[in-house]
Amino acid sequence: MATTNEPAAGMLSALLQEDRRYPPSDEFKAQANWSDPAIYERAEADPEAFWAEQARAIDWFKPWDRVLDWNPPKARWFVGAEVNASYNCVDRHLQSWRRNKAAIIFEGEPGDSRVLTYRDLYREVNRCAAALKRLGVKKGDRVAIYLGMVPELAIAMLACARIGAPHTVIFAGFSADSISDRVNDCGATFAITADGGWRRGNKIPLKDTMDRAMESCPTVKTVLVVNRTDDARQVPMNEGRDVWWHRALADSGAEQVEPERLDAEHPLYILYTSGTTGKPKGMLHTTGGYLVGTACTHKYVFDLKEEDVYWCTADVGWVTGHSYIVYGPLANGSTCLMYEGSPDYPDKDRFWDIVEKYAVSILYTAPTAIRTFMRWGKDFPAKHDLSSLRVLGTVGEPINPEAWVWYREVIGGDRCPVVDTWWMTETGQILITPLPGITVLKPGSATFPFPAVKADVLDESGNSVPLGSGGYLVLQRPWPAMARTIWGDEERYRTQYWSRFPGNYFAGDGAKRDEAGYYWLLGRVDDVLNVAGHRIGTMEVESALVSHPAVAEAAVIGISHEIKGQGIAAFATLRGGYEGGATMVETLRDHVGDKIGAIAKPDKIFFTAELPKTRSAKIMRRLLRDIAEGKVLGDTTTLADPTILASIKQQYEESE
Ligand code: WT7
Repeated sequence: MATTNEPAAGMLSALLQEDRRYPPSDEFKAQANWSDPAIYERAEADPEAFWAEQARAIDWFKPWDRVLDWNPPKARWFVGAEVNASYNCVDRHLQSWRRNKAAIIFEGEPGDSRVLTYRDLYREVNRCAAALKRLGVKKGDRVAIYLGMVPELAIAMLACARIGAPHTVIFAGFSADSISDRVNDCGATFAITADGGWRRGNKIPLKDTMDRAMESCPTVKTVLVVNRTDDARQVPMNEGRDVWWHRALADSGAEQVEPERLDAEHPLYILYTSGTTGKPKGMLHTTGGYLVGTACTHKYVFDLKEEDVYWCTADVGWVTGHSYIVYGPLANGSTCLMYEGSPDYPDKDRFWDIVEKYAVSILYTAPTAIRTFMRWGKDFPAKHDLSSLRVLGTVGEPINPEAWVWYREVIGGDRCPVVDTWWMTETGQILITPLPGITVLKPGSATFPFPAVKADVLDESGNSVPLGSGGYLVLQRPWPAMARTIWGDEERYRTQYWSRFPGNYFAGDGAKRDEAGYYWLLGRVDDVLNVAGHRIGTMEVESALVSHPAVAEAAVIGISHEIKGQGIAAFATLRGGYEGGATMVETLRDHVGDKIGAIAKPDKIFFTAELPKTRSAKIMRRLLRDIAEGKVLGDTTTLADPTILASIKQQYEESE
């Protein structure tokens, strides 16, 4: 695996020698939603007509006047239309036999389970929406949601969507500081959390963390608290601010709340993601185009059928959960499984136990998880009947061919197509992906842009590179679920994504196309890490480190990690009076955990008298990466003091 910023030459040549091919079976093709490759030409001939056709799968209160208004980089989709996401994900399914179809099958980590039919979901979403309104939430108000993977999370999101209050879901692994940063950035006035959540048999004290965050969130007036772990007595409720979810919903009774007729461009949610600065970006997604983009890709990328049991193992706290647990799948009226906990609780076969228990037919997970399962061995899946599976998907990071083939053979019985889907928080929907009834698969390749999506690979000067070479991945035409801006920072939206190659959306990923035009994703080309499929900015970790009194300076880089894809290595210089060593390593790891969340804790921390800097005092992370990769050090002539590298190198090698 490459470290950040490095052209992944070694990996690349290995990838391009990958000569295994997996065409769709005749049997799969015969039943596929799309099996005719002409769909690509049809979409390419008239992209707007293609999306308009897909938009007919959504229910609109008022039709659009124009499919698209495109003033780069500003897009408005389905201009003039009125729509509601909650109506599309819930109400409309009540008009057919689907009313009693399972919408959400919830499996709690302790082994409890709940099934919510579409009718149940309707009832709960209405009760929650009524409670939100009664407690003062109005159209346009931002609602922060900090919950584990429980049905109330989806219910809360849909209730917000129903009344037109954009939600901002904060991953339950984030710290109090991360919560308050996000809440304050978007000025949320209302928050929803739980007493706790279950993880590896432990109760995660969500409410405690929320309480600490609320100390610096003056805008939040009310916190709704779900009782998940029956800790009611231990959880202190703040008079006048905290309200139990079950009480508030009981007060709603059977009240129904009309879904707001919202403009297609009404904000649906804000979701924060890491960038190249210390401050996460609040990506703003709107309603109409987002529903079209997510529902359509969910249906065709996974070859969704009415009777499928679909399981996306992501957390709803990330975009994958927003688009492919909540909005896309529920808009399609599908049955979605939602699992609360860890894959190794109570044992390492929990996923396979769930697949067997509910006869899951579509499984969507991350390469990190697959590599973990590989390490645990075939015996765990072998204990279970996995014959219900028919389509497998991956997302979040590049998948190595070995893991791809293992997934296909061991989990998919060598019968299920594996769709490697590339997209981002910013893109809202899958953009580069196989179509399982059409594409001849190559292990490790996300294959081709989805119909009507126009991608390219550019060199430094913005020229398209020939097939067989690599460069920067860009998108050259708007797509319906694209983020519309960064909340409160239009300027950053423009410079971050649209200025590197004017007129092109700059993804920040390296990619290569092979001679047949297949796309191979190579990882980030900026200061963003991808740790176990989670995006973390090196600057965020650096600012967390230097906020500790012991740390004078810090530099953070990505390092290869067998399971997580990337790990985090930090190099720190300490202030006078502080000493490095194992205790300081733990102190700083915990500090980063407190500042950001456990996912950002560095795997390795090195102490050094100085960081390698240019004479103009710029930290040369490239040299640190060379050390981490065991490479011959690149050009060191611009270094102010070349001798410090030797000592860093020695420490690093001793740590291996
Ligand atoms: C970054 C976006 C999209 C949901 C999960 C991550 C990487 C994503 C793939 C893939 C190679 C991938 C990219 C991208 N990425 N999918 N199939 N192959 N890399 O969303 O947190 O916004 O991260 O994840 O580097 O830029 P995110």
